[in-house]
Amino acid sequence: MRLGVVGFGGRTCGLVYGPFREAEPDIQVVGIVDPDENGVRQKLSESDRKKAVFYETLEEMVCKAKLDALVIGSRCNLHAPYAIKAAKFDLPLYLEKPVAVSMKQANDLEDAFEKSKCKVVVSFPLRTSPLCAFAKDLIQNGAVGNPVHIMAWNYVTYGTVYWEELYRDYKITGGLFLQKATHDFDYMSYLMDSPITRVGAMATFQKVFGGKKPAGLVCSKCGETDTCLESPINRKRNNSGWHNNDHHCVYSLDCGTTKTGTNEDASSAVVEFASGAHGIYTQVFFSRRDAAARGSTVSGYLGTVEFDWYENSLRHIRHHKPFSDIVKAGSGLSHFGGDLELAYDFFNLVKGKGQSRTSIWTGIQSVYTCLAARESALKNRFVKVRQTGQSG
Ligand SMILES: NC(=O)c1ccc[n+]([C@@H]2O[C@H](COP(=O)([O-])OP(=O)(O)OC[C@H]3O[C@@H](n4cnc5c(N)ncnc54)[C@H](O)[C@@H]3O)[C@@H](O)[C@H]2O)c1
Repeated sequence: MRLGVVGFGGRTCGLVYGPFREAEPDIQVVGIVDPDENGVRQKLSESDRKKAVFYETLEEMVCKAKLDALVIGSRCNLHAPYAIKAAKFDLPLYLEKPVAVSMKQANDLEDAFEKSKCKVVVSFPLRTSPLCAFAKDLIQNGAVGNPVHIMAWNYVTYGTVYWEELYRDYKITGGLFLQKATHDFDYMSYLMDSPITRVGAMATFQKVFGGKKPAGLVCSKCGETDTCLESPINRKRNNSGWHNNDHHCVYSLDCGTTKTGTNEDASSAVVEFASGAHGIYTQVFFSRRDAAARGSTVSGYLGTVEFDWYENSLRHIRHHKPFSDIVKAGSGLSHFGGDLELAYDFFNLVKGKGQSRTSIWTGIQSVYTCLAARESALKNRFVKVRQTGQSG
């Protein structure tokens, strides 16, 4: 199976040589569009390194490389422009999230895919993870009755990535609703079987990260590493970082300001569903260690279904019968098993069987929800969520 990849960075490399290979051992990366040819070559497997050809454009790669499928894993702000190009071809597409970072990009994407035959798997591993699918099954089979409320949480313990890596460039990410909540709004909608139609959100900026340290500062050039909790030495001593290497300062001017745009330390949203149900979602980016948590509680009159991916378990409480269940899930899977499920969906599309569970429309709808949340937090008022299909 011949893959063409646009943006072969850390995420795509991990996917291709992890879950993709596991789902389909016979894959080869034969075409690449990525300006960092040297960096990519170091990531490629030995056999792919020999065969892969670098192209200037997606169009040239599709015309020349005899591809079976396309993967777009470039940075966030480039997903939509590349996907719009891919929509002209009839090749199955694996598209990284967020599928767009602005209303214009999302509208253009919708227009491009309205008439397209290109089938898409959007990279939403939470929706496809076995634990979420299990919860969905229970809810669909009446475990809570009519779902009336959802509470979802996300305590991110590797959140410094959004202040020390390229993700701190607001022009690329567009903030952390788009970057992170795009997954959660998507699976919340899926579990509640209803799109989100209205959002009221709040965000807290620069109480923890961001600041006035010089642009370009890295720990190895800083005089405060003995006292700074984010220095490699202190992260190592406290077992508190997702890595202990030299890194860009999380308190630097490079992290942006509320005027120029910057990522939030924490943000939350109250959401209303088309069904009339409502729920809340909250995300915190400075948590560490055992604080890791991501999951939700779905409630109806008849019961509660609650799960957390980090605990890897689910509870089902019957409100009107004296029985409760605790279900333990298997462990050790990439993105809680969701990446592997996405890989199966993707290769099934290539083989002409099955359907994507995370179509382009789920990706675009989630972006509309994230954009509404961002606008709500910035303007301090509730915002209606645009629904896909409204462009006519
Ligand atoms: N679905 C998930 O759960 C998940 C997890 C992690 C990352 N991601 C997403 O994956 C994307 C990539 O993240 P990453 O951590 O791999 O970043 P990365 O910086 O490691 O990779 C991005 C790649 O895109 C390349 N690139 C830059 N400009 C380009 C251009 N004009 N054309 C083509 N390629 C270009 C870079 O050289 C790099 O190789 C992000 O958008 C991120 O949101 C998704």
